[in-house]
Amino acid sequence: MDITEIIAHQHAEQRRMFAMLEEWPRTDHEGLAALWRRLEILLETHAEAEEKYFYPELLKLGTGGADAESVDEEVEDAIKDHNEIRKAIRKVRRCRAGSAAWWTGITDANVYNSNHMGEEERQDLADFRQQATLELRHEIAVAFIRYESTKAATGIAPKDKDPEGYVTSRGRAPSSGLAKRAATRKAGPVRRAASKKASAEAASSD
Ligand SMILES: [Fe+2]
Ligand SMILES: [Fe+2]
Repeated sequence: MDITEIIAHQHAEQRRMFAMLEEWPRTDHEGLAALWRRLEILLETHAEAEEKYFYPELLKLGTGGADAESVDEEVEDAIKDHNEIRKAIRKVRRCRAGSAAWWTGITDANVYNSNHMGEEERQDLADFRQQATLELRHEIAVAFIRYESTKAATGIAPKDKDPEGYVTSRGRAPSSGLAKRAATRKAGPVRRAASKKASAEAASSD
């Protein structure tokens, strides 16, 4: 197992499930509610597992992938995105399945999640593949899947994190055994040249 593959695979599943909702008969409110419940559980347990097992290790080893300014910036941004997705999930929960307000919440969740997954794949997963050993990627995958499996039947309540506090508390003081083992295995991060960053024109185009 490889955590970067597990995350990418679950992103594909999330895209597939949003597409399924969009194609589902609009009058089958019970079916829509059941489909969303499965997706909601996947979204929240996936984000929480990333925050517990993936991002702390990326903070230790990452250098800032693709157009990210730094690893701190890419992780802070990811936590902000997770909070936006949680906000949309809470909004959907307050609405009757199949209502106009419910569909607005579903669309919001889809937009926030799609944007986040694209960035997470381009920056965070790419960065981690460059820096982490296959052994560490395997160890994190096992912990990640184990956590998700224990929560898959009931789901978890969306819980916001403070993005800056998350980076500060997890990025500076290695606390997990995974990080300590990784530190002893790695000779040091392979830093890439600044030229990997997006051009000023590209950065300012959005
Ligand atoms: Fe993800
Ligand atoms: Fe994420």
